[in-house]
Amino acid sequence: MRTPVIAGNWKMNLLSGDAVALASALNSALTDASAVEVIVCPVFTVLAAVSQALKGGRVAVGGQNCYHDASGAFTGEISPQMLHDAGCTWTIVGHSERRQLFGEADALLNRKLKFALASGLNVMFCVGETLDERKGGMMETVLRQQVSEGLSGLTEAEFANTVIAYEPVWAIGTGVTATPEQAQDAHAFVRGLVRGQFGATVSDGLRIQYGGSVKPDNAADLLSRPDVDGALVGGASLNAEGFAAIVRAGVSAATR
Ligand code: PGA
Repeated sequence: MRTPVIAGNWKMNLLSGDAVALASALNSALTDASAVEVIVCPVFTVLAAVSQALKGGRVAVGGQNCYHDASGAFTGEISPQMLHDAGCTWTIVGHSERRQLFGEADALLNRKLKFALASGLNVMFCVGETLDERKGGMMETVLRQQVSEGLSGLTEAEFANTVIAYEPVWAIGTGVTATPEQAQDAHAFVRGLVRGQFGATVSDGLRIQYGGSVKPDNAADLLSRPDVDGALVGGASLNAEGFAAIVRAGVSAATR
């Protein structure tokens, strides 16, 4: 049984007061969620404060992005070492907003992924097709490319610290969720790609999160599918009660 991993991607939201208040509320609400792994990914400026608020609790902290070098003349970037210094044990790499709005392509994301892993962080690596790609029958081609280039060269040991987030771009922030069947199909396809490239031991152990308009009322159904091993939650993670309800859906799925 793969332990579900439920992460909140706060995106570019929350100033320090609200971020710490949300973290503290989650810390109190999630004391009994040991059957799942829970992570929040705040903006860089509040990472240290949120890490402090969550210290000793069940919720880990992650960055939303990071660069493939430890330090140097890379204005505006942040390194895995800096994320770690601010209390992070995780980072997201390759979110579709990074791919689409900031032009991050598979080769760059592969470098980021490998450097973050080599620097001791765990990584949620995002893949997913756009609506045009899905409608044009390109979903499998797009996922194949993102998996084969994005994960290229990863070792079996590195996979232990890697989670894939399948996030269909058409479902992100739109209120349109993939149906549990669509999510299951895509997850099974991604797992099959990983099996083909890296073998059964890696693919059987790999956790694949679903992301895209996950809410308290659809989480249980999504998480009940055999290849859906967690959720990467955007909008609904900004509300402590809503996110806690999604985590509890993960606990129910894990302890079923
Ligand atoms: P959403 O975002 O839950 O607001 O759709 C998910 C994500 O972008 O990770």
